[in-house]
Amino acid sequence: MKIVVAIGGSILLKEYDHAKFQEYSEILKSLSKEHELFVVVGGGRPARDYISMVRNLGAGEAQCDDIGIEVTRINARILLSALGDYAYQRIPHNFQEAAEYSAYGKIIVMGGTEPAHSTDAVSAILAEYVNADKLINLTSVDGMFDKDPNKYEDAELIKEITPDEMIELVSGKETKAGTYEIFDMTAIQMIKRSSLETIIANGFEPENLEKAINGEDIGTKIIQ
Ligand code: UTP
Repeated sequence: MKIVVAIGGSILLKEYDHAKFQEYSEILKSLSKEHELFVVVGGGRPARDYISMVRNLGAGEAQCDDIGIEVTRINARILLSALGDYAYQRIPHNFQEAAEYSAYGKIIVMGGTEPAHSTDAVSAILAEYVNADKLINLTSVDGMFDKDPNKYEDAELIKEITPDEMIELVSGKETKAGTYEIFDMTAIQMIKRSSLETIIANGFEPENLEKAINGEDIGTKIIQ
């Protein structure tokens, strides 16, 4: 299968060390023997820290987004270091480059592309662009909840959701640099229009990636 995997920066950089990069690199190497993989990594805490520095210096939101994008690309480079020869050692800056580099048959790793969305949107656009079979979004919670599970104890995990239901859940949420919600609107719109099979799962356990690929019942499935 051709699979796009989005790994949140909040997963990779929670402990601020190399451990999660290493764990993911082992799993990705093994999966790449059977599947064609495109990996999109997020910015995490360093992106938010850097964005806040430039915002305090008076930068506008698009410039803040640009700083966030640079950080996602540094994170992508760290994952490339771990993957070594299994990955194509250049980071695509746009979807055309991602498709082009994939011709070498190696794992493709990228970060952000342009301002005004998150890496979730990048992964959804990329999945459409390369005509992926599946999009797997690995995030810091178990999937999509009816309300923010970090704020509400009684938040319930949604096992299946349509893009329209997601749009209703996320509309009205903040869209400032560094603060895009669990799934931004662009990502949902893309998943809707390309009828993309998508799974949102907890990325703190990297084996969830394998489970999601194998169709096991984890996280939230976006159904059309
Ligand atoms: P993300 O918000 O996607 O990374 O990118 P994250 O921190 O990994 O997200 P989660 O919370 O763990 O899922 C960091 C910031 O970089 C900018 C945005 O400001 C975003 O908030 N960015 C990223 C863009 O403007 N465009 C992109 O294509 C990607």
